[in-house]
Amino acid sequence: MSATLNGQLEALADKGGRAQSEHPSLDWEGMPPKLTSWRRGMAIGIVNQFIGGEEATARLCRDLAPRICLASARDCLLIQVEDEMNHAAIYRRYLNRIGGRASAHHFLEEVVKRSLSWKGAPEAALLAFHVIVEGEALAFLDEARDWIQDPLFHNLSRQIARDEARHVAFGRLYLSQTLPCLPLQERIEIYRWLRALWFDGTTRLTKGRLGSVIATALPHSWMQKRWDHWILALQPTGLFDGATLSEFS
Ligand SMILES: [Fe+2]
Ligand SMILES: [Fe+2]
Repeated sequence: MSATLNGQLEALADKGGRAQSEHPSLDWEGMPPKLTSWRRGMAIGIVNQFIGGEEATARLCRDLAPRICLASARDCLLIQVEDEMNHAAIYRRYLNRIGGRASAHHFLEEVVKRSLSWKGAPEAALLAFHVIVEGEALAFLDEARDWIQDPLFHNLSRQIARDEARHVAFGRLYLSQTLPCLPLQERIEIYRWLRALWFDGTTRLTKGRLGSVIATALPHSWMQKRWDHWILALQPTGLFDGATLSEFS
């Protein structure tokens, strides 16, 4: 592994550690937002999705870290575990503020289980979570701010988004250096596994009882459209390039 990558990851881990102590405090004292019962139901569903996503990602990072050889990459993952647990606690507090109850189960738990049971390189799980799940979470945070018109929610979600962007940056940096070192056949298998995970996971989200609140926002064509987006976004990670893309079907 290059000394440059190690140095960049150490800098990212330092940045993450500093960010944890420098987060501005949030004002929880203001009045809760006045939401219609339909919007309140939406808000509770959205916040529950975030809680489940944060806790699932924390579990994935904690269990994956020992499988990563590079100490600076492990440090980034362990700082991320603390970030995600902190995010989950913030969302739980917000859920309480709007009078919601936490869901007992989240569709990403199955995705974590499948990611951790992948027998090949740990880069597969990092692609699933640090590129796709975190990328979707960032996009969903933007939409959530439109749904939940509350200055506190806007502030907390922007604070969380800064951490998520750092997690995505870690994934892209680490993967762009490690994935091209894997044999072509292994990268093809990772790609196929990732695609199956995407379609199985999003089908569970839209068809399962957990997805009922936001299912209307995710028509079937959304899955294919978003996967097409992720094919383009996966290219800079080094999973494939323009010349080898045709072999990844
Ligand atoms: Fe998070
Ligand atoms: Fe994250």
